[in-house]
This record gives sequence, C-alpha cells and structure tokens, in this order.
Amino acid sequence: MSRSTFLVAALPLFAATLAFAQFVPLVDKRYKYPDEIPYKADTDFLARGGQTGYNRCNSTTEGQNSLCQTAFTNSIDDFCLWAPINPNSVVGDVEGEMVAWCTKPGHGARTIPAGTLTGVQFMKTPDYVQVVGFLDQTKINLAAGDFGGEMDPHGADLRGNPLGGLLYSNAFGTDKNNFKQVIEWHNFIGGNAFCFKACDPAGPNAAHFCEHIFDRIGCAYNAPNNAQNGVFESCLGENQDFPGVYVTNGVTQTYQQPPESLGPITSIPYTARVPASSSCSQFKSEELFAAAATVTPPAPTSSSITTPGTQTQTTQTGSATTKPGSNPTSVPQTTSGSTSSSTGPPPSQTSNDASTLAISGAASILGAIFAGLFLS
Ligand SMILES: *[C@@H]1O[C@H](CO)[C@@H](O)[C@H](O)[C@H]1NC(C)=O
Repeated sequence: MSRSTFLVAALPLFAATLAFAQFVPLVDKRYKYPDEIPYKADTDFLARGGQTGYNRCNSTTEGQNSLCQTAFTNSIDDFCLWAPINPNSVVGDVEGEMVAWCTKPGHGARTIPAGTLTGVQFMKTPDYVQVVGFLDQTKINLAAGDFGGEMDPHGADLRGNPLGGLLYSNAFGTDKNNFKQVIEWHNFIGGNAFCFKACDPAGPNAAHFCEHIFDRIGCAYNAPNNAQNGVFESCLGENQDFPGVYVTNGVTQTYQQPPESLGPITSIPYTARVPASSSCSQFKSEELFAAAATVTPPAPTSSSITTPGTQTQTTQTGSATTKPGSNPTSVPQTTSGSTSSSTGPPPSQTSNDASTLAISGAASILGAIFAGLFLS
C-alpha cells in the first residue's frame, strides 16, 4: 500500500491506542459532590459502548424516566438501589446500564414506588454502611424470578456496573451536607432481596470489605446480615469478615470462587459469620417512605412473583442460610439444620455470565489493536 494509504488506514488504530492510553478505571475517578460531578463519568467507547445515563442529576432529570447514574446510601430512609431502565429486565443482561432508584425524591433519580420494599435493615459499622432488604423486585423493573447479580465499580473492563455509576454518602461524617464519594461498594439484587454495602472511603480496608470478586455467592457471603422481611430497622454493628475470608480450625482461609466454566457452585466450605449488631431502631415503612406514596410502579409484567415469605424464617444464630440476599446469585445451602428455605438460583443466572463475556470481548479487541500495530 502507498504511504498515504497506510497513514489513513493507521489513523483509527492510533486513535484507539491513544484512547486506551488515557483510560482511567472508574475506581480511580474522583469528583467532589456536587460541583465536580461530570455529565458522564465514563467517556470511553470500548467494547461495551458508552455510558447509558448521566451523573449530573437534578430536578430536571428527576422522575420515573430518569437515567441518573449517581446513587446515594445515606440512611434507612434515604438510599438508592441500582435497577433496570425498562420493565421485566434480567440483571445479567442490563448490569452495565442500571440507573438509580431512590427511596425519596431529591436526587434527580427515579423513586422506588411505595410498597416495593417489604423489609429493610440499615447498618453502620466502623468501616462501612450497608442496607439489606426484601422487595417486590418487579416494581423496580426486574423480571419476576430473576435471581439477579452484582453491581460494583469494577467489572472486567474496569468501567463499573453500571458503566460510570457513582455513589455518594453523608454517613461517614457528622456533617449531613457533606456527601463523600464512595470508592468501593457492591450491590447484589435479585430473588426479591438486595444488599448494598458502601465502604468508608477513609477506611484502610475498603476494597476488602467491599470485595467484588465473589459475584456468584450473593449477599449471604458478601454481606452476611440478620435483616428480616417485615422489619424496618437501623442499627449499629461490628464489621463483617472480609468476603471470602473464613477461619477453619484456627486457620484463616480464603475461598476461591470457581470459574463459571466449571458449572454451578454446589457447595461452599463455610458459612459466613453474621457480626453482632446493636442499637437497632425500628420504624414503620410509611414513616420512612412517605414521599414515595405518589409514585406508581410500572405495570406488572408477570404473576409468577416469588413471594418473600420463603425467606422469612431468619434466626440470629449466625447462619447465613436464610438471610435476605442469600438468593441473589447464591447457592443452595445445607449448612444449617434450622430451615431449608433457600432455593438457590438457576446456575446460569449470575452476573458472572456477563463479566466472563466482557473479559473475552475486551481481550480480543485489545489483542486486535496490538496485533495491528505490530503489523504496521
Ligand atoms: C441538570 O441535569 C442535566 C442532565 O445531566 C444537565 O444537562 C443540566 O446541565 C443540569 N442542570 C444544572 C443546573 O446543573
């Protein structure tokens, strides 16, 4: 080829390489709230396309069509979950495009309709705040029966799930007008339960408490808790163990989550310890979520909703078996003799499906770029 033809052909390659050189992982991006919030935190157009929504959310974006991707975890009456844009969605299909659904207006986001949340426990510990609960997930656009998956600010391509999703909290200081950016967090949702842990950005172990690599074993192992359906409470608590870390016969071990290619996870060699909690204050849901009363849920899409009643026999024994959120991407458990109500998900429905695909997708695209450079 002629020199000029070569240059024209090579230009997109250089552009792609430049874009890659400037790539910044989502967890390395810092924006003070509210002044520094960009329109979109993610400006990359790699394998998964661009960021679906936006981060600058205000009264003009507020409402049930909002595509706001800036979430908050402040308190039991003021938190957001990541949930789908469109009704009847499966988490594994849309984890990169989730938007913020919040318990009250004021964040420029969607509002979780009244009656969606059927039990919530907010927990503040030395290193994180965590909100765990039960819900009718169809009211925030999840398909009935979807056992869901995990959102976190990493993902195989380091752009986060959702892409560009940001989280803020006023729970880590005394000034309730100071919303700190939460760098490490994880949110499991599905099986009519959720858990959302936001790690204190000043904590030395934030990345461990909010570990993101155990995406197939759900809330029971990533956010062990004693939340109960029908109960709305805000508590103080001790820290959990780091997800995946456990002690057997005095020896500290780290669980290795098997790759999905090896098939469903049928057993886990430990039960996660539920840390002690204290100072719980209980509330009525109407007093917490009054502002949501006027919000209409999306039209029901199916009548086969799994009732949360299968998970209510929670005890405080430390068994993770029947805890809320043991359903999202978790496995059938036989470790406790007390109840056996956890049914476990179909093994194919975990967020890991999508991230596994993303790994191979990103690798082949980068491989193509570099192969092209060597050829030229
Ligand atoms: C409100 O949010 C929209 C969408 O992000 C943005 O375009 C607009 O500039 C914002 N308005 C203000 C006053 O910040």
